[in-house]
Amino acid sequence: MRPGTLVAATLCLLYALSASAKDGVYKSTGHGDPIHGPQRRMDIQPGSCLQCHDQETDRRTTSQLRLDRGLFGPNDDTLCFVCHAGTSQTGAFPGNATWAQSAHALQQASRCTTCHDPHGVRDAAGVIPSLLKRRESALCNDCHDGSRGPDIRSQLTRAFVHGAPARGTHRSDEDGDPSRYAAFPVNHRHVTCSDCHNAHQVIRDPAPSSSDRTNRLAGVSRVQVVNGGAGVVPTYRFVAAADPGDEHEYEICFKCHSSWTKQPAGQPDIARLTNPANPSYHPIQGEGRNARIDPRSFAEGFDVRSIITCSDCHGGDDSVRGPHGSSYRYLLRKSEEEICFECHARNVYVDGSSGSRFLSHTSHAASRIGCTVCHESHGSTRNGALILSGGFPGITTFIQTAVGGSCTSTCHGLQTYSVGYPR
Ligand code: HEC
Ligand code: HEC
Ligand code: HEC
Ligand code: HEC
Ligand code: HEC
Ligand code: HEC
Ligand code: HEC
Ligand code: HEC
Ligand code: HEC
Repeated sequence: MRPGTLVAATLCLLYALSASAKDGVYKSTGHGDPIHGPQRRMDIQPGSCLQCHDQETDRRTTSQLRLDRGLFGPNDDTLCFVCHAGTSQTGAFPGNATWAQSAHALQQASRCTTCHDPHGVRDAAGVIPSLLKRRESALCNDCHDGSRGPDIRSQLTRAFVHGAPARGTHRSDEDGDPSRYAAFPVNHRHVTCSDCHNAHQVIRDPAPSSSDRTNRLAGVSRVQVVNGGAGVVPTYRFVAAADPGDEHEYEICFKCHSSWTKQPAGQPDIARLTNPANPSYHPIQGEGRNARIDPRSFAEGFDVRSIITCSDCHGGDDSVRGPHGSSYRYLLRKSEEEICFECHARNVYVDGSSGSRFLSHTSHAASRIGCTVCHESHGSTRNGALILSGGFPGITTFIQTAVGGSCTSTCHGLQTYSVGYPR
């Protein structure tokens, strides 16, 4: 037989075997693209099956054919690297050298075809992006159910799941376009594993580590800020997944939780609130400004110089790290009241040992007035000491002076206080 006939015969067999390629999915994937698709052989059109399947079959046994699928090389990751050795356009695939260092490669947990079908797959919602075999999070949670990797599946069964109300879908090429994350004019709100993780690049960091620069979040696109004055919306700079520069966890969150995109009505602009030019803020973007807080008022391991991360407060209610799902509202690791004592000393704020400038903390705690009745969680563009004004019940007016302060609230008229120790 002439080689052309052999190839045709091979493909007939392959077609017969094929369930996935038949329904036309292939043509709508990057591999089936007749212009930009795979072109290993210049004598054949890009995107042709023959770019990968072109082996003669006559000298092979049927079982060998089954194993190799008539592929031009061994049926393993090296086949993919012939064309995917380098970084992909969006940076979502970082190249084979970086892949080789990832948890997924090192643990030999998976090969390319564990997650990808080179021919594409269609499900009830349409063709699955990025040639994935299944949609996230089902794809990831086949293993991330505690069987082969940390258990994220059970976190997603909690009462509060990250982005549960969101309707949009994630694509690797949405990056850089804020409208792809926006609530208006079209609702594209979404959040899935690949918005925060790059499956080709994740590495397990030695515990305990800060999640601010963790390799679990490496290789993900993000939004950097250049801050102006207090309360001013920052200037944003989108940074693609492939950018090797320093990264901070909060920059990933800012893709969806800052005014870089159009947030749903009522959602706070966390970038603006955590601007270190504000009168007060939790030290996420930089060290706090209330530099002389009594060290005794902090819980073990924290002080005025600590930098904290979003996921220090937002995360699961179990030992698995990351803001995937929690039984506490707002995706908190502990309840809204308990979370503060991860870093602030309970004996100072509830039991009343000295160490706070506001000596009435204890009496308020005794009346079951929670911390977030008086305090903001992220930052304040108006007040010192993270004082929240305008809540109900809560503080209506607040003035801080050199030696104390005063406030009116929905619970009482004007009250003044003197600081427990100098500012
Ligand atoms: C980019 C490379 C590539 C292209 C192009 C490609 N294939 Fe494949 N094909 C593979 C790989 C790799 C496998 C083995 C998959 C595995 O073992 O999981 C495979 C396996 C198959 C199989 C065996 C059954 C299966 O799905 O595993 C069939 C049939 C098949 N291909 C048909 C086709 C047809 C028909 C086309 C064109 C419409 C095509 N392939 C284009 C890479 C490719
Ligand atoms: C013969 C070259 C070639 C081989 C072999 C190859 N690819 Fe591709 N692949 C391409 C090209 C070309 C594209 C399209 C790139 C683009 O659109 O910029 C692509 C695109 C992709 C995409 C993105 C598809 C999309 O629709 O967004 C994935 C995922 C992918 N390849 C995975 C694989 C995997 C896994 C293997 C090994 C089983 C593999 N490729 C083998 C050339 C190849
Ligand atoms: C653990 C699952 C997993 C494994 C294993 C995996 N990938 Fe991926 N891959 C993904 C996911 C998820 C995406 C989509 C990323 C996104 O949407 O940001 C993707 C996207 C891609 C893309 C498209 C990149 C782009 O810019 O759009 C390419 C190319 C790719 N993978 C190649 C590979 C190759 C080659 C291998 C093997 C060395 C591999 N992948 C192994 C999960 C995986
Ligand atoms: C085939 C099984 C499998 C699939 C599918 C899979 N993973 Fe993994 N993953 C693992 C294993 C095994 C580890 C290494 C665990 C370890 O180091 O103890 C891991 C590690 C990780 C880590 C590093 C964190 C750590 O502490 O170990 C992250 C993050 C991660 N995977 C995310 C994903 C995402 C996102 C997807 C889907 C796109 C995915 N995984 C799909 C098996 C899998
Ligand atoms: C790709 C988009 C995206 C990214 C990135 C993202 N989120 Fe979200 N997040 C959402 C969506 C969508 C919701 C649902 C509410 C909404 O639309 O704002 C949400 C809700 C939340 C909530 C409120 C939960 C509740 O129950 O009210 C918290 C807290 C949160 N995210 C924290 C984070 C943190 C921390 C990060 C960074 C580690 C982050 N998010 C990154 C999209 C995202
Ligand atoms: C010190 C703890 C702490 C840190 C750090 C923290 N948060 Fe929060 N966050 C809270 C608390 C408590 C709430 C609920 C009360 C509120 O809305 O202020 C909350 C609420 C939210 C909400 C829901 C707001 C709403 O009104 O629905 C989002 C979104 C959110 N946080 C995102 C983030 C992001 C993004 C970061 C990092 C840049 C972050 N948080 C850092 C404690 C924290
Ligand atoms: C909003 C961002 C975000 C999303 C979406 C997200 N993660 Fe995470 N994930 C994190 C952060 C932050 C961590 C903690 C990183 C650290 O502290 O090192 C984490 C940790 C993990 C870990 C390691 C847990 C451990 O304790 O070792 C795994 C595995 C993981 N994520 C998988 C997934 C999977 C699978 C999905 C999709 C179902 C997903 N993540 C969705 C942000 C996210
Ligand atoms: C009734 C309102 C109110 C409540 C409730 C409240 N605080 Fe405060 N808190 C204040 C005021 C006012 C200051 C500012 C003192 C000053 O002028 O420096 C303050 C200051 C602080 C400070 C700055 C350091 C210090 O102690 O001087 C921390 C930390 C703090 N509060 C934590 C908490 C925690 C944790 C809770 C919940 C257990 C809580 N607060 C409940 C009003 C309140
Ligand atoms: C992950 C650790 C962490 C958690 C959790 C945390 N804080 Fe803080 N908080 C800090 C650090 C560190 C500072 C010191 C910042 C500084 O020196 O300005 C601080 C400062 C403060 C201040 C003083 C800010 C100022 O500028 O005067 C208040 C008030 C405060 N926190 C209240 C709270 C409340 C209320 C909660 C619970 C909702 C909480 N914190 C949870 C770490 C934390």
